[in-house]
Amino acid sequence: MTKSILTKKILDWYDNNKRPLPWRKKFSQIKREYYTLVSEFMLQQTQVVTVVPYFNNFIKDIPNISTLAKFNEHKLMKYWEGLGYYSRVRNLKKTAQVLEKNFKGRLPRTIEELKLLPGIGEYTANAIMAIGFNKPFIPLDGNIERVIKRLLNLKLISEVSKENLISKKFILGTSVRASDYAQALMELGALICRPKNPVCSQCPLIKNCKSFKKNDFEIVKESKKKIDKFYLLNVYRKNNKFLLIKNTKFRFLKNLIIFPMKEISKHNNLKKTLNFKISNMNMIVVIKFSKIKSSIPNSYWIDSSKLDNYTLPTFTKKIFSYLYKNI
Ligand code: ADE
Repeated sequence: MTKSILTKKILDWYDNNKRPLPWRKKFSQIKREYYTLVSEFMLQQTQVVTVVPYFNNFIKDIPNISTLAKFNEHKLMKYWEGLGYYSRVRNLKKTAQVLEKNFKGRLPRTIEELKLLPGIGEYTANAIMAIGFNKPFIPLDGNIERVIKRLLNLKLISEVSKENLISKKFILGTSVRASDYAQALMELGALICRPKNPVCSQCPLIKNCKSFKKNDFEIVKESKKKIDKFYLLNVYRKNNKFLLIKNTKFRFLKNLIIFPMKEISKHNNLKKTLNFKISNMNMIVVIKFSKIKSSIPNSYWIDSSKLDNYTLPTFTKKIFSYLYKNI
């Protein structure tokens, strides 16, 4: 089976099965570039179904790079509220500013220049080259990795390393329809070659797939073990009001509003703990009800019945939900 036959099968499948996502419509090249930039930043850590309404809302009010470059940072955060990983939106704005200043408000057309922009790494640069500029690049996301692993039945740790997968990605061939092709591969991974219960009966690659032949669909992952970290979170309360601070201390949730907290070596009270997966850590948060002793810099008393007036990260909202249930 030649690569071009594989490519054709995948594109035919995509033409008949793709989801009508808002950034997949036909646009002028200038809009295509901007919509690819925004959607790919949103999709860096978030699933397609979650991203769609955020994307629509974002481009409705912030329709182009020059508006984004000037957009008030505080207001901008509202458009990201609930998506998490807020450094993405700050980097997106910084990128828009660099594009305005150095590239006449357009995206550069080489992968090297793209990778120099804030928030754009290997994956996003490849995605922009393929999806935004229709160049024969393959952005290796989790979906495409899974398709390659299953197609070739890669099981050894050495086989599933990023490096090896990058070297194998062109086994899938390329197309003059590079933009569609990158998205077709992602879509195949998302809709058919799913992590659990792949829908092999509908897969265009069923005859080529080594995992199907072996009836072995288990996916081996490069181990990225999250480390446990413990935090003591202080709840200061005055009637309906709670004391929150702007986080300038921790790298995660940077500049966002959180309850005051500090890292501790371990926790000794198993009762009042909550678990979060943030960045590369498994965060164990010990909740402590405290009395305020001295003033805390950068802090605000926030009325718990008026939370909608603030842009709060999901982390802080989850602590509030815990408090509602437990006090
Ligand atoms: N995941 C990352 N980028 C995507 C895209 N453009 N379409 C679907 N899923 C994606």
